[in-house]
Amino acid sequence: MADKTANPLQRVQVSPGVYVDVAPEIIASVAEPKANDLGRYEITQNPQDRWRYKTPSLRNVQLTAPYMHNGSIASLREVVEFYNRGGIANENLDPLIKPLHLSGIETEDLTTFLEALTGDNVE
Ligand code: HEM
Repeated sequence: MADKTANPLQRVQVSPGVYVDVAPEIIASVAEPKANDLGRYEITQNPQDRWRYKTPSLRNVQLTAPYMHNGSIASLREVVEFYNRGGIANENLDPLIKPLHLSGIETEDLTTFLEALTGDNVE
């Protein structure tokens, strides 16, 4: 039986009208690294918009790991720890993102709060 977890092959055109099916791992091994997603700047070209991303809904957020636009944070606890550190310093950082000095129990409580945003009508 075919392994359903394996990535499907990607069809690559090697010359006009000639295609080969290649495993995505092979394509990745010779591809350029993916460019950073610069956020809203990519559309507006306004330097102030660099690293600005759409603020997502937190509804059912417990079920949608990994987090942030690039999936760089694996768990909600780590998201809370990220905010507690004050995010990543950059010249466009919103003043609301700053070190929060949360205690261990407050970090725990905030994580539990985020987990509580899960509806009971989700499969
Ligand atoms: C302690 C307070 C906060 C908590 C617990 C929190 C929680 C979260 C979580 C769980 C996510 C990930 C959502 C996902 O990937 O589906 C997220 C993303 C985000 N939050 Fe917050 N947030 C906080 C404060 C803020 C503030 C103050 C701002 C705006 C100034 C903000 C703006 C955003 C934005 C723009 C994203 C998307 C980031 C990206 O895609 O890389 N958050 N937040």
